[in-house]
Amino acid sequence: MVMQNPTETAFLADDVELRTTLLIAEYYAQSLRPPNGDPIIANFSSAMVQVMQNPDARAFEGGLIQERPEKITPSYRANLALRAFIAWYIQMDPVNPEIPETVEDWLPDIEATVFHAGPRQDQYKEIMTTFNTESNVTAREIIKVLVPYAYRGRFDGPVDILDVGCSLNLGNKRLKKLDRFPFDYIEYGTTLTPDKKKVPRLNVYPDLTSILNYAAKQPTINNIVGVDKSRPNDRRWWPIAGSLYPSERKDALLAQRFNQLMNLGRVAGVNFVHGDFLDMNNGKLPGKHGQKKFDIVSLITMEYQHSAEEEQQIILENALRFLKPNGLIVVQDFANINPQNPLKLDFPDSWFNEPFLYKAMIFDPLEPEKGFQLFIQWINGRCSKGLADASSLIMQKLHILHPDLRTAV
Ligand SMILES: C[S@@+](CC[C@H](N)C(=O)[O-])C[C@H]1O[C@@H](n2cnc3c(N)ncnc32)[C@H](O)[C@@H]1O
Repeated sequence: MVMQNPTETAFLADDVELRTTLLIAEYYAQSLRPPNGDPIIANFSSAMVQVMQNPDARAFEGGLIQERPEKITPSYRANLALRAFIAWYIQMDPVNPEIPETVEDWLPDIEATVFHAGPRQDQYKEIMTTFNTESNVTAREIIKVLVPYAYRGRFDGPVDILDVGCSLNLGNKRLKKLDRFPFDYIEYGTTLTPDKKKVPRLNVYPDLTSILNYAAKQPTINNIVGVDKSRPNDRRWWPIAGSLYPSERKDALLAQRFNQLMNLGRVAGVNFVHGDFLDMNNGKLPGKHGQKKFDIVSLITMEYQHSAEEEQQIILENALRFLKPNGLIVVQDFANINPQNPLKLDFPDSWFNEPFLYKAMIFDPLEPEKGFQLFIQWINGRCSKGLADASSLIMQKLHILHPDLRTAV
């Protein structure tokens, strides 16, 4: 039996009041250290803390917590709420959504949603009780190029990938269309002292950075089949709401890139299968891809939506059913490898109190006793900066020596 860590025990608590309090604490934490250092999220979180001082608002949120059949972590819930608000603005104006910036701007909108019955409140309730976040963060796709390159001796040639939780499949289309990672901005280094509020800074190593950027440009992918339980054409506003930090929407270049991404049509070598991966326990995909086996099964920012141990077990078992004999499972998520049981991933309550949570981990069925192993540690969920750690598989596979160790060799 694996011991649960104290934070997990807290979020699994049945007591709705305790879970509401933990949610407020999470908003408070995010108001001080927002995801990606985004000031708009800090202000949203601050406004949420203020509104939740009102007992009626707490009761309203408590009701939503109670209504959702599965228990989700406070950090996931806070993220879902932010996305629910952004989704509303995108529906009002898809081209130029008016996202509030200051606490004073957020307060009336949050109050209107929480205190006034109507379509806006109905949609918020529906999202908070039944939706899961969806995103298409292209930068995260880099892992699908780095892993096959790092393991290139193991595979016969470009790899076939089953990407579970692909959302709109846009990242895969873009990867395949360009045959390489589209952006040229990975930096690699060790951290400087984490700043209390902002994203930590890196002591960048230019040589490691250039090796990674070289690796990221190699053509390593053959075919990709994306799986998602949502259909790409259902309510497109929802994955859009989940894909950019609010401040990023203001970045004209990013917005432009995102629009280009949305307009990708069919791309050869990329397919989509609709279905719930938890149900795919016969090792067959629905439809024409039924019998296919893959070199890599990737689960990118998907497993945190199934943080319960039994679901993790099902996901791992099902992923194994789709692998070729020398295949690899890649999980990239806001998680830690459990130190006592490396087959288990821990999903801490707060994504942002603990820096450097987003990382890629590999399960190699040829070395099952090792469980999940760290492949690369990212500085945040945007993967533009990797952290040098001599124990990570990427350093070992690419024979990169940690600069601090180099003098000792
Ligand atoms: C947060 S998004 C991540 C999308 C993309 N991989 C990324 O990292 O930006 C998670 C996606 O996983 C999908 N998902 C979650 N559980 C799933 C399941 N059991 N089967 C299929 N898709 C699932 C959700 O519908 C959602 O589109």
